[in-house]
Amino acid sequence: MEQIKYYMAPMEGVTGYVYRNAYAKYYGGIERYFTPFVANKKLGHREKNDVCPEHNAGMAVVPQILTNRAEDFLAIAEILREYGYDTVNLNLGCPSGTVAARGRGAGFLAMPDELDHFLEEIFEKCPLRISIKTRIGKENPAEWERLLAIYEKYPLEELIVHPRVQTDFYKNRVNLEAFARAEKNSRHSLCYNGDIVDAASAAHIREGFPSVDKFMIGRGLIKHPWLLEELSGGRQEKQERKERFFRFHNAILEGYRQQMSGDKNTLFKMKELWAYWGENFADADQRLKKIRKCERVAEYECLVDALFREKELCV
Ligand SMILES: Cc1cc2nc3c(=O)[nH]c(=O)nc-3n(C[C@H](O)[C@H](O)[C@H](O)COP(=O)(O)O)c2cc1C
Repeated sequence: MEQIKYYMAPMEGVTGYVYRNAYAKYYGGIERYFTPFVANKKLGHREKNDVCPEHNAGMAVVPQILTNRAEDFLAIAEILREYGYDTVNLNLGCPSGTVAARGRGAGFLAMPDELDHFLEEIFEKCPLRISIKTRIGKENPAEWERLLAIYEKYPLEELIVHPRVQTDFYKNRVNLEAFARAEKNSRHSLCYNGDIVDAASAAHIREGFPSVDKFMIGRGLIKHPWLLEELSGGRQEKQERKERFFRFHNAILEGYRQQMSGDKNTLFKMKELWAYWGENFADADQRLKKIRKCERVAEYECLVDALFREKELCV
């Protein structure tokens, strides 16, 4: 077995370049970072900032595209090629109601004929390598067999599978039987994604799929940024873990302060992260509540300093 490779899952609003750079500096160990999706062929300021080479130095980054129009895919891929990328990822997994209703993301999975034509055109015309991140169907895991057969027709760079259907959103169990079907029948290089949150869940998945050596992690890694050290068997002293976490937090805060205009926007981004981080602190509900309510960066910094100084990690 080759060495296990970990990918950072794309998470819109969370894993932008500020987060990725801070993560790479304080934790690292990620083989590929996937950007949150680009959906519009006219890249806005935010998208350009997220994919431009100056903001992604020293990391292997794969930008992600969300569309069901081949023409738009090709136009976005061309812009990304000009930025220097040689691989792009197609989003066939986003479960959001508005996205799916427009036949994009996991909504595209409900239209296998159209999807097949779309893939035929982009694989014919796109000069870049294309990987796919997919769910196993729109509503029913029975759709998976057909989708897998379609993917078999094209030379994917890799196939990343989050084994849920669109209507699951993030509920219900991951469907490991469906992933096993891909492992058994697909010629593609597979990456598993979904619900890896600690050493036990990682071990469970790895034992089930011994031939798979690529794992993409999203929420588990946001919540516990030290997760990869844990998965590789490293043990870290709690105080050291907390200190590094604090420095990581400060790097993200600093990054958002530079990127965003105004305290409100900066704190909005930080509070999104606290939705994941909060549970890492023992007995800290009152303090976390204040952090959630706080509206000024200066006050926020005092509250977070005190939290890290006075409360222990419970993980
Ligand atoms: C807030 C949030 C934003 C997400 N944004 C994207 C996205 O832009 N592109 C994508 O392919 N998946 C996106 N996802 C899905 C994740 O990449 C990943 O597939 C999912 O969270 C399951 O993996 P996990 O259990 O390791 O978190 C998002 C998920 C969440 C919770």
